[in-house]
Amino acid sequence: MSAPSMTLYHNPLSPFVRKVMVLLHETGQQNRVALQNCVLTPVAPDLALLDDNPLGKIPALRLANGNVIHDSRVILDYLDHQHVGNPLIPRDGSARWRRMTLASIADGIMDAAVLTRYEVALRAPEKHWDEWLDGQRDKIRRALALLEKDAIAELTSHFDVAAISVACALGYLDLRHPDVDWREANPKLAGWYFEVSQRASMLATMPKV
Ligand code: BEZ
Repeated sequence: MSAPSMTLYHNPLSPFVRKVMVLLHETGQQNRVALQNCVLTPVAPDLALLDDNPLGKIPALRLANGNVIHDSRVILDYLDHQHVGNPLIPRDGSARWRRMTLASIADGIMDAAVLTRYEVALRAPEKHWDEWLDGQRDKIRRALALLEKDAIAELTSHFDVAAISVACALGYLDLRHPDVDWREANPKLAGWYFEVSQRASMLATMPKV
């Protein structure tokens, strides 16, 4: 086995990092990437990361030639061009735009869930902005309702960029927002998630606190 040629700025709790890790597993590339752990919040950035991503956000990927790419969508697209199996992001046509739009909905769920986590975990309770928190929870609820209504067959058809992203978003809700109880309102999504959670890539990347 050859040494990893790339380095991923990584935190196992980040759902955006998890998307990259799941794609690496699904495409058999996990040994090509060394992990550099980052401990960060919006008010306590990881200083080593800032040299490579001024936004201070993970994931970021240092390539073999020293160039650094980010964010998770760019990294997934890059890595999907580095293996010989079926692409997990359709290269063109209507499937590309549809699957990327589903992935974008999942990213929006993650954005709202991570921001909510920061507000609740990092700010004193008397400073919590309740209307803003309600707005983030509404975004999550509406996005899940759309997936439940329109996307189950598509998610079931391929474990690709769309399915990976939705699975990682749901995993993060379970990790940080068990109070959301998304399964109650979205039983088809819950059934789909139960199945895909058994995949080796999902088991290997399950976040633990
Ligand atoms: C978390 O602990 O929830 C977290 C860590 C890193 C990035 C995003 C979220």
